[in-house]
Amino acid sequence: MKVFLLLLQLAPLISGSIVINEPSDIIPEQQWSSDNAIKADYDIPVIYYQTIANIAPYIVAHQRKTFQNAVLKDNSNDTSVLIAANGSVVHVIDTEVIKFGYSSDLIQASFFGTNAAVLAANHSQLYLSDVNITTHNGAANIYAYGTDTVVDAENIWLYSSGPTAHGLYASGNGTINARNVQVFSGGNRCSAFSGDNPAGYIYIRDSVARTAGIGSAVGFVLGEMNLTNVVGSAERSPAFFTIGGAVGSCTNCELTAGLLAGLVIFGLDKSSGVNYFSLDHTKLTITDETAPALWFGGVVGEVYVRHTELVTSSGILAVANYSTITQEFNFYAGYYDDPSAVNTADGRVFVEDSTLTGDLVAFNGSTLGLHLTDNSFWTGKGYIGYGSADLGVVLDASSVWNLTGDTALLNLTNAVTTFSNIRSNGFSITYNASAPANRPLRSRTFKLEGGGTVSPMSRK
Ligand SMILES: *[C@@H]1O[C@H](CO)[C@@H](O)[C@H](O)[C@H]1NC(C)=O
Ligand SMILES: *[C@@H]1O[C@H](CO)[C@@H](O)[C@H](O)[C@H]1NC(C)=O
Ligand SMILES: *[C@@H]1O[C@H](CO)[C@@H](O)[C@H](O)[C@H]1NC(C)=O
Ligand SMILES: *[C@@H]1O[C@H](CO)[C@@H](O)[C@H](O)[C@H]1NC(C)=O
Ligand SMILES: *[C@@H]1O[C@H](CO)[C@@H](O)[C@H](O)[C@H]1NC(C)=O
Ligand SMILES: *[C@@H]1O[C@H](CO)[C@@H](O)[C@H](O)[C@H]1NC(C)=O
Ligand SMILES: *[C@@H]1O[C@H](CO)[C@@H](O)[C@H](O)[C@H]1NC(C)=O
Ligand SMILES: *[C@@H]1O[C@H](CO)[C@@H](O)[C@H](O)[C@H]1NC(C)=O
Ligand SMILES: *[C@@H]1O[C@H](CO)[C@@H](O)[C@H](O)[C@H]1NC(C)=O
Ligand SMILES: *[C@@H]1O[C@H](CO)[C@@H](O)[C@H](O)[C@H]1NC(C)=O
Ligand SMILES: *[C@@H]1O[C@H](CO)[C@@H](O)[C@H](O)[C@H]1NC(C)=O
Repeated sequence: MKVFLLLLQLAPLISGSIVINEPSDIIPEQQWSSDNAIKADYDIPVIYYQTIANIAPYIVAHQRKTFQNAVLKDNSNDTSVLIAANGSVVHVIDTEVIKFGYSSDLIQASFFGTNAAVLAANHSQLYLSDVNITTHNGAANIYAYGTDTVVDAENIWLYSSGPTAHGLYASGNGTINARNVQVFSGGNRCSAFSGDNPAGYIYIRDSVARTAGIGSAVGFVLGEMNLTNVVGSAERSPAFFTIGGAVGSCTNCELTAGLLAGLVIFGLDKSSGVNYFSLDHTKLTITDETAPALWFGGVVGEVYVRHTELVTSSGILAVANYSTITQEFNFYAGYYDDPSAVNTADGRVFVEDSTLTGDLVAFNGSTLGLHLTDNSFWTGKGYIGYGSADLGVVLDASSVWNLTGDTALLNLTNAVTTFSNIRSNGFSITYNASAPANRPLRSRTFKLEGGGTVSPMSRK
């Protein structure tokens, strides 16, 4: 079953003109629309221990075993098809896995892999090559659970319909390394690649992902996730949700996001560490007309943008908000939705060798800083969305700010002391003369090319 198409040898995949095949070309999404309409039932208690046992018709425990040229199936609820557990080493080659059956408990399925078609758990090694996995009714395709559990996968075709059916899913510190994956999910909360409690480690190369549902990202990052040469489209989701102290990267990727933002970086409180995400030689297009490229809520986050394009139709580059994401992943939650979960955000965006367009917007106690280096060119302005909030801009001597509206900053740091690298287009910048970052400006006013000025804010 050599299903792999030539396109995956096309590296780099960034081209925009080639036709990318993915699993819903073969099983149309519409064929499973009632399955895809089932909403994830997240309104249940969160229990951090296992209450539903992992069962399956094919279970390997404490053993080595190979499945080759097989067709493995199961139709029961809360049941996997194949489990490799307790120190097993399992190879699955040229095999097709087909699973039906519902999950009765989203938390058990999310934290322990119940109902996942293929599960590797508890210090097991699972090797998959030329494997085709189809699930219906809401089941993850491949799940890795536990420290020292590693799934290595190549030439993998994954299809799912139904809710909470992630493609490659790792939790409990499990690891997945995969290349040549084609993945499609039709349901809600079904990210192509996903980590879960307390962390999953996911490394993907040369792959294609498409998701159709709300809350279904290309990547849900909890732990660590690195994508290299990935073409991904999330029709009704950000390309990434990344939470708390997670670390993620996209290198040489072409991604499309359809709802909320390109990247949603969120947390429930700021104590879970700094979130890092890097976008390198990547193009991220955001089709939602109101959505920013980068969104920070309730988190301390740093995004590194290197030789990358961020294309929005909203004209908003980044938002830092007093907010988080609702359980349904469909809108930005505010104080009235969940007072205990919302918090301010501190977002910092470090840009290298990139041309970006779009505004910076900070809300209600949040802070947002943009650092432009290495021949970067930014067209945009900054403003406050609600209440009082802080914005900062740092420019090195090789970067240019093309100003599109009057902007008030807490910090303005410019390596060009004459400000000749800011094109004002008639607009002006004010800065807070008392802020320590602005000491070198010594409360002076500077004239900008195009008629505007840089001057101290008037004291209230
Ligand atoms: C994978 O399996 C599905 C379901 O059996 C089938 O429709 C599809 O053609 C297979 N895909 C490939 C690429 O073999
Ligand atoms: C793995 O071992 C645990 C106990 O350590 C046991 O509860 C579980 O049933 C075992 N799994 C399998 C598949 O045998
Ligand atoms: C499986 O789950 C579905 C959906 O919740 C339910 O309708 C069906 O009765 C369950 N089947 C069994 C055998 O419990
Ligand atoms: C993994 O180990 C835990 C703890 O011993 C056990 O409860 C669970 O059933 C095991 N998982 C599998 C798939 O055997
Ligand atoms: C995951 O790692 C943490 C921290 O090392 C550890 O406490 C926890 O037991 C691990 N979880 C599993 C399921 O291995
Ligand atoms: C994943 O990417 C991060 C951020 O770029 C990097 O620090 C980390 O070393 C990478 N991990 C692996 C295993 O490649
Ligand atoms: C900002 O957060 C508020 C809730 O605090 C929310 O109503 C609003 O939609 C959010 N806006 C953006 C652009 O994030
Ligand atoms: C603004 O933040 C304060 C907490 O500092 C909070 O009480 C208030 O509800 C927030 N308002 C909005 C619109 O987010
Ligand atoms: C402003 O500069 C200070 C250092 O003086 C820094 O700690 C803070 O994060 C900066 N804020 C923004 C929004 O750039
Ligand atoms: C600079 O901004 C102005 C609008 O203020 C815009 O018309 C112009 O196209 C921008 N220049 C570049 C090179 O993007
Ligand atoms: C200016 O900065 C000072 C010192 O950081 C701060 O106390 C003050 O509130 C700021 N003023 C405004 C208008 O942001």
